[in-house]
Order: sequence, then structure tokens, then C-alpha cells
Amino acid sequence: MRIDIVTLFPELCDTFLSASILGRARAKNLFETHCHQIRDYTLNKQKQTDDYPYGGGCGMVLYAQPIADCLRAVQAQCREQGRAAPHIVFLTAAGAPYDEAKARELAQYDAVTLVCGHYEGIDQRVIDAFGDEEVSIGDYVLTGGELASLVVADSVLRLQPGVLAEEKGYQDESYWDGLLEYPQYTRPEVWEGRAVPPVLLTGDHQKIEVWRGEQSRIRTRTRRPDLYDQWCATHPLTELPKWKRGENMRLVKTEEQWQRAAELAAEGRRAVGAPVGTPDVLASLTAEALLPQLLQQHKDGWAFYLHFTKNVPDGMVGVCHRTGRIGCLFVTEVSRGKGIGAKMLDFARKKLPEHTNPTLTVLNTNTRAIALYKRMGWVPAGTEAVYDPAKDAFCAVYCEELRMSYRPPVNDFVSADQQC
Ligand code: ADE
Repeated sequence: MRIDIVTLFPELCDTFLSASILGRARAKNLFETHCHQIRDYTLNKQKQTDDYPYGGGCGMVLYAQPIADCLRAVQAQCREQGRAAPHIVFLTAAGAPYDEAKARELAQYDAVTLVCGHYEGIDQRVIDAFGDEEVSIGDYVLTGGELASLVVADSVLRLQPGVLAEEKGYQDESYWDGLLEYPQYTRPEVWEGRAVPPVLLTGDHQKIEVWRGEQSRIRTRTRRPDLYDQWCATHPLTELPKWKRGENMRLVKTEEQWQRAAELAAEGRRAVGAPVGTPDVLASLTAEALLPQLLQQHKDGWAFYLHFTKNVPDGMVGVCHRTGRIGCLFVTEVSRGKGIGAKMLDFARKKLPEHTNPTLTVLNTNTRAIALYKRMGWVPAGTEAVYDPAKDAFCAVYCEELRMSYRPPVNDFVSADQQC
């Protein structure tokens, strides 16, 4: 890849690109960078690059001709190298927000040219004539586009093969998959009374991976709820537990699995609703009726899992990363009494480590479930809804939907993020 920077301060940009990781990678010819002085392309004696803005106002504006000629020279160099025309990006505070997705997109080009504005800006006509896009690195105004162009160059060049010692390097870091990076620690084990989280000293790589994943989700949820919401929409977690031989949980993905989930949900709802629902309502709880509801919940951020015993689906549970809710916890009649419900609840809760106190709801008539939930650390947390036959035609007797919330045991390791 080749990155060109068109600027009034080429030495400044070149110094940065010659240092550290990028400098070493450039010396190994993993990419090329070229910084061009706009002033060299002026046609006036004074080598002036800016002029007063039409319409008045303070500050000066970079005029079109030197920038245009500089860009033509870069295009010609690319042609001579047999490259495609460079993708031209203007760095301006008025540009579209820059992010990791854009870095990955730019990293695919063979040649990218970054144009740095200065003073009050650049004549819009040269942007319109040459620019493929305008990009801003954040909602603040810099005195010039140099720092912004270096931010873009750095984030794009680090993605080039071989630049980071290990390819895996860039996948683990912040934003690789829409999550912020987990916290890192190095020696000593205890520094000024602060210990490294014990799990990192176990040498158990699987446990460490799980812990890091949890920390990433906790951080993202507390620091960047916007990123977290996006992540939840596309990432129902898929790592599954291994229990008894032949016993398994699977993420509901295929059409057949959705159908089975709808059948289980219908059976479960009928069983739970039997003591309180009218016969009409109970009869309406069919797989056909519940499938669209489950699919809508899925669109709203829920992931559903089926429990299998020897390849036969006999339980289901749903989790919502966005809200920290657990729901649709059902076990088929034949498989009840084997502890599957408890296992699935534990599984679902562990899917939501980023929610310190996940919630679920349960009908007050479902005393067996309430007793189980209490044994597993769930406590009543208010009433979600009240169903009164005088007002609600679907119920035969008065009942309440209770909210319960999980309270972790006090000696659980609590990260700095959870504390604040
Ligand atoms: N030039 C001035 N401010 C800028 C910003 N925030 N991003 C990109 N270029 C700029």
C-alpha cells in the first residue's frame, strides 16, 4: 500500500511516520509513505498558499490550484507505479466521523491520499473536484489536518500485513469486533497494594479468555453504551457449555431450530399459564402463534438457546444482552425434574456477565420456579405486571408477574469498571 499526505508540514508528518512500529515497517517496505509540500506547487512568487475567503469572515482559505496540482502529481506517480488512481480523502472538521470500520475500508485500497487543510479551510471546489470523501477524526477543531491525517495513516497502516508482529494483534484490541479492549496487567504481581486479577495467574487459557471477554463486555457497556448496543445487535454469544455426555446447548439459528423453539415456548407457556389463563387464551398458545413473537424478540436483541439431551431438544432459554433479561426458560414435561432448568438458568446468567444484576420475570403462581430461582441467588425485585380478570380478558384468576434480579455472592471478583 501507498499513503500520500498532502500538507503544509511534510517534515512533521514524515517524522511521525519514520518512528517506532510504522518506521520499522516502512524500512522493511511493508508500505510506502510520501509527504508532499503544497507550497512547492504554488505558481506565485511569494509561494503563498492561502487567500481571503469570498463573502468575508475571519481567517484564510487554502486556494485550489496548488492542492490540485499536487494531487495530479500524486496521481501521475501512482500511474507510473502501475497502481490504481489513489483514493483521495480530505481531513476536515466537517467530514464524516472516522472509525475503525473506515480504517478497515481504507486499508483495502492500494493507494490512499490524505489532504490536510489549514487555516479556515480549503476551497470547496478542489474538494468537490478531487475528493472521494471528507473525514473528521472527532468533534473538535484542530488547527490543521496534519494530526488527523496521521491518525488515519496510523490506523490504516497498522492493518497492513506484517506491520504488527502477530496478525492476531489487531484482532484483540479495542474495536476489533465492536468491543473495547479488556484491561491489561504486567509485572509486578502486586503494585502499591493493587493485585493483578487472580484469574490471570492461573495459566488456564480458557478461563482467561472467558474473563477477558467478560471484561470487554463490561467495559463497553459502561463506557460506550452506543457501541455496546450495536454489538448486541450482531453478536449473540455462541460459546456453549459441555455438561453430561450427550447434553448440550445450541444457539437457535436454523429454521428447524426456530420451529422447535416455538413449539417449546408454546408448551412452556401453556404449562405456566394453565392455572391462570382462560381456556381460549391457553388454546391460542400454539407454535404458529409464538414463532413470529420469538422472531420479533430476536430482532429486538434476544438470543435463544435450545437444550439438547442426546440430540433431542428438551429445553430452551432466551437472553437479551441489551437489557440484561433472561426469559423463555422452559423444559419439556418429560425432561422435568432433572435439573435442566437450573443448568439453563445458570448458563443464561453467565452469558450476561456484563450485567451485574440480570433480571427475569415469573408468575406468582409458579411457586416451584420461584423457589428454584431463590435457591440460585435471585431475589424479588418488584412487580412487573398485574393481571386482573375484571380488566384483562385473557386471565381467569388474579395473578402477578414478579420481577426477580440476580444478586452475585459478595466474594465474587469485582473489576474496577463494575465498582465505579
Ligand atoms: N481539521 C480540523 N479539525 C479536524 C478534525 N476534527 N478532523 C479532521 N480534520 C480536521
